[in-house]
Amino acid sequence: MSERRSESGFAITPVYGPEDVADGLADRLGVPGSYPYTRGPYPTMYTTRPWTMRQYAGFGTATESNRRYHQLLEAGTMGLSVAFDLPTQMGYDSDAAIAHGEVGKVGVAIDSLEDMRTLFSGIPLDKVSTSMTINAPASLLLLLYQLVAEEQGVDSAALTGTIQNDILKEYIARGTYIFPPAPSLRLVADTFAYCRTEIPKWNTISISGYHMAEAGATPVQEIAFTLADGIEYVRAAIDSGLDVDEFAPRLSFFFVARTTFLEEVAKFRAARRIWARVMRDEFGAKNPKSLMLRFHTQTAGVQLTAQQPEVNLVRVAVQGLGAVLGGTQSLHTNSFDEAIALPTEKAARLALRTQQVLAYETDVTATVDPFAGSYVIEAMTDEIEAEANTLIERVFSYGSAVQAIEAGFQKSEIEQAAYLTSQQIDSGERVVVGVNRFTVDVEEPYTPLRVDPSIEQDQRDRLENLRAKRDNAEVTAALDAVRRAAEGSENVLYPAKRALAALATVGEVSDALRAVWGSYRPPESF
Ligand code: 3HC
Repeated sequence: MSERRSESGFAITPVYGPEDVADGLADRLGVPGSYPYTRGPYPTMYTTRPWTMRQYAGFGTATESNRRYHQLLEAGTMGLSVAFDLPTQMGYDSDAAIAHGEVGKVGVAIDSLEDMRTLFSGIPLDKVSTSMTINAPASLLLLLYQLVAEEQGVDSAALTGTIQNDILKEYIARGTYIFPPAPSLRLVADTFAYCRTEIPKWNTISISGYHMAEAGATPVQEIAFTLADGIEYVRAAIDSGLDVDEFAPRLSFFFVARTTFLEEVAKFRAARRIWARVMRDEFGAKNPKSLMLRFHTQTAGVQLTAQQPEVNLVRVAVQGLGAVLGGTQSLHTNSFDEAIALPTEKAARLALRTQQVLAYETDVTATVDPFAGSYVIEAMTDEIEAEANTLIERVFSYGSAVQAIEAGFQKSEIEQAAYLTSQQIDSGERVVVGVNRFTVDVEEPYTPLRVDPSIEQDQRDRLENLRAKRDNAEVTAALDAVRRAAEGSENVLYPAKRALAALATVGEVSDALRAVWGSYRPPESF
């Protein structure tokens, strides 16, 4: 029988047996909800509560996105997940020259407290958990969310949700960074400290491997580079004066689920075991919640095809099943039409229905970590754990994850993996159904959803009105206070919240921080 290689590059044995599983499996497994959490962070996992069905959505104006959120909540989604447009993600207002053509395109445009109020209109913020995919200005969007909650009369201590806030992967793979690494890590630490005091149930960061995977990272690279970033954040927070158990329980992670299902199940289990060991043995964390790697999963966008798009329904179902058997806490299933354009309402509903079939028609929620003890899964879990540990050590051989990033290490490793994958697809060695095999002569036409380009002017008009009616003297004074905090060591979130409450915009507060911290310039290509 020919030997296949895994996505991470190790051989997949045609037949696994007890000889493929190293001694000591019981210790490596533990029990669900206990160290080393291989089998999951909670003792009962889905037997008492399914994962959170959390569909990433957002486009155009706050009004349009608010409508989609109500549709998703009515369809049964259990948590919200906000997609922001690039100007918002980069700390620019919709009327900034650099924003032209991007307003409302890949997500919703949020410039001010007024937009945030509209985005969550009619949604009780004490009843939903909201994830926000925002990084460099994550603290500002969190403050806007908190301000809207205060207007609803919701106590900040009751707020639940997550900001992605993972600036390091932005330098590696996604690109929506603003400030250089040092002030960016300071802002992350300020946010950890602020949430510990003001919004204690908020997950302060979603340390992401997803985008590195989408850029071509293998499963081992995905978890190794992500966990290395996690270690960097923990060190930065401890260096800022926080005790590890003061913030670690609110760290969270975000991974991809590929179609190579067996390796993905093993990848998630290996990641939990590595993180538990690192937090206990390297950082001396005592609170069990500090040792639990809790994560969100999104099915692999890069594996969706524009050709025969309905075939993506099958890919997403397999990928979603892998995430669930891997013990994810929250899941986004991609819409089958996303390789073509923004998902239509029907495609978005089908994506959610896929999760509902997994949760309510299959038996995978009847028992915890069903693959435990499987020769192949345990052998792969051990293999991935060993290779990821080695790769984490290579990252820190540069001194820190930031120094490795600035040396271009992670980016270079991912690019090499991506190139190999593309060569395998081009040669036909790697089958992509509908693309390089099992193709059709004529693709049926598909009518994608389009964002109305006039929304940019709507946003600009709204900003003009906002700036005309607010107390600009108050805004100017509040922005000065933000600058002073950035120049000193005061937690910048407190003056930033006062500025946003006075209707300063996300762009203006970001500019105040840019004026002090500057903007990141990536090192020359490697
Ligand atoms: N037993 C006991 N308690 C349980 C339980 C069980 N079986 N199941 C759940 N719970 C509890 C949990 O402990 C938690 O309570 P706590 O907060 O007091 O601890 C509560 O029920 C909610 O459960 P989870 O925290 O497990 O689930 P959430 O959905 O609330 O949180 C998360 C999941 C991963 C921790 C969180 O960080 C999250 O929601 N992340 C989502 C991130 C996200 O959506 N990102 C989108 C990115 S899209 C993107 O990047 C752009 C695009 O380009 C890809």
